[in-house]
Amino acid sequence: MAEFDYLIVGAGLYGSVFVHEMKKRGKKCLVLEKRDKVGGNIYTEEIEGIQVHRYGAHIFHTSDPIIWNYVNQFADFNRYTNSPVARYKDELYNLPFNMNTFHQLWGVATPAEAREIIERQKKECGITQPKNLEEQALMLVGRDIYEKLVKGYTEKQWGRQASELPAFIIKRLPVRFIYDNNYFNDCYQGIPIGGYTKMIEKMLEGVEVKTNTDYLAEKEVWDKIADRILFTGGIDDYFGYCYGPLEYRSLRFESEVLDMENYQGNAVVNYTEYEVPYTRIIEHKHFEFGKQEKTVITREYPLDWQCGMDAYYPVNNEENNALYEKYRALGEKENKVLFGGRLGMYRYLDMDKVVKAALQAVEGIKE
Ligand code: FDA
Repeated sequence: MAEFDYLIVGAGLYGSVFVHEMKKRGKKCLVLEKRDKVGGNIYTEEIEGIQVHRYGAHIFHTSDPIIWNYVNQFADFNRYTNSPVARYKDELYNLPFNMNTFHQLWGVATPAEAREIIERQKKECGITQPKNLEEQALMLVGRDIYEKLVKGYTEKQWGRQASELPAFIIKRLPVRFIYDNNYFNDCYQGIPIGGYTKMIEKMLEGVEVKTNTDYLAEKEVWDKIADRILFTGGIDDYFGYCYGPLEYRSLRFESEVLDMENYQGNAVVNYTEYEVPYTRIIEHKHFEFGKQEKTVITREYPLDWQCGMDAYYPVNNEENNALYEKYRALGEKENKVLFGGRLGMYRYLDMDKVVKAALQAVEGIKE
């Protein structure tokens, strides 16, 4: 018998939920984290009394009461509702596309007027079999919304022209014919009061955690100390990229402390014109209704990803999904290792889905 029942690689949300549950089941666990802090990509850091979302804006939302009750054990959540604003040149629009947006675009006041304009513009495009993302978006929402609110933003996000991107990236572009700026349709949403890091630390209470420790750098040593392993890093990294790397989009975050109380009046402002190089500016204090004298903003720049960079969005095209399947098949042969989380499963997962997947993984373990 090894010293530990479980070695958990990665102190992100997936690893932290998993280890919390294992601890409850009386298992002896050790967590390794290669960064100098816990939390993975939901890590928040206090600057000027403000919780700064270091790896991008994170709003917890779910329609599953079990998951909502689960995370509420570790934190109280505030009533933050995500209502981003889009800035196109000097024009401001509410998101997601709803009656407020349509009023701002065309001066219309009723759903019937808005519907008529959108339907006319869709018809004018004359597209029935979209061959690329541009045609897909035009077919779904017509020219005005596409050109002002979709095109530039999407091209910056993907680093390619919309006419060169595959149509499947945008399956739906929901339009709402009500005055409702709430981005999510979920029943529950909010931000943990005191930040996500505190929530993760609560999950990890009573568990030994070693930060600044890369499991893969001394894999043979770590493999001996536990009976089973949960790996939440990149599955391609685990196998030494033997079939080549899986592709991601990356991001660069540029943060600034400003000597003013309120910079943009909203937590999230998307910049939808191509000429502005960042996709959005986050003003963190508005996630928590902060009243501090200063403010912290972060500009988010999309980047081409290269091996060694932080991986953010998996590029789930046919080629990469096929590559992932090859790694997954190799993973199944590793009988004492489980792969989990967004990197281990090569899937974009919202936080509620990560919590659910980790709980299901624990339930699925046969002793
Ligand atoms: P995560 O990447 O957080 O954790 C993995 C950990 O493993 C990392 O800490 C890493 O350092 C560590 N690790 C990797 N290899 C290792 C090794 N060899 N040795 C030791 N440690 C290793 N979701 C949502 O619900 N609402 C939102 O608003 C957002 N917003 C958002 C913005 C952006 C920009 C992105 C990219 C994503 C979101 N998300 C989101 C999704 C959210 O970030 C995601 O669900 C969780 O962070 C995933 O947690 P994991 O634990 O799976 O991965």
